[in-house]
Amino acid sequence: MKLVKYLEKEHRLCEELLDLLEGWLDSGREIAASRIGMVLEVLLQALVEHETIECTVFELNGNSRPSARALQKEHDDLSDLREIMEFLIENCCDGTLQELKPSLAQLANRFRRHFRKEEDELWPSLKARGEKAPPKGMERELEERERRLEFLVQEVR
Ligand SMILES: [Fe+2]
Ligand SMILES: [Fe+2]
Repeated sequence: MKLVKYLEKEHRLCEELLDLLEGWLDSGREIAASRIGMVLEVLLQALVEHETIECTVFELNGNSRPSARALQKEHDDLSDLREIMEFLIENCCDGTLQELKPSLAQLANRFRRHFRKEEDELWPSLKARGEKAPPKGMERELEERERRLEFLVQEVR
């Protein structure tokens, strides 16, 4: 299993969730706040675990490389997004969904930018050197995670 390919797939799943949220708010349709909260929770959980997997991939392939430091900086810069998501999860039940639009747009833009940066700038060097295979057991864990994530995306759609 190529871990970078796997991480790219997760980016696409997370983007699907971001598109879904933005699409709902743009449509002006009545969307139950609980559904929005559910998508945000799936997204938050997925992203926290995703970051951990990314750090493992970089450690496996040499943690001292500048790209690993750049990845760390990227993740540090995004640390406030977790708080924004928690804020949105708490407040999306207040029936003031349109008021959350700016925060949600900011969240989606920053995540999309982050995914692009990883794929365009941080991962190519890793791919070029030929990434190391994941340790035994990790592959199965990730496959299960992927199935779970795909299922959740289907469920909230
Ligand atoms: Fe990341
Ligand atoms: Fe990522």
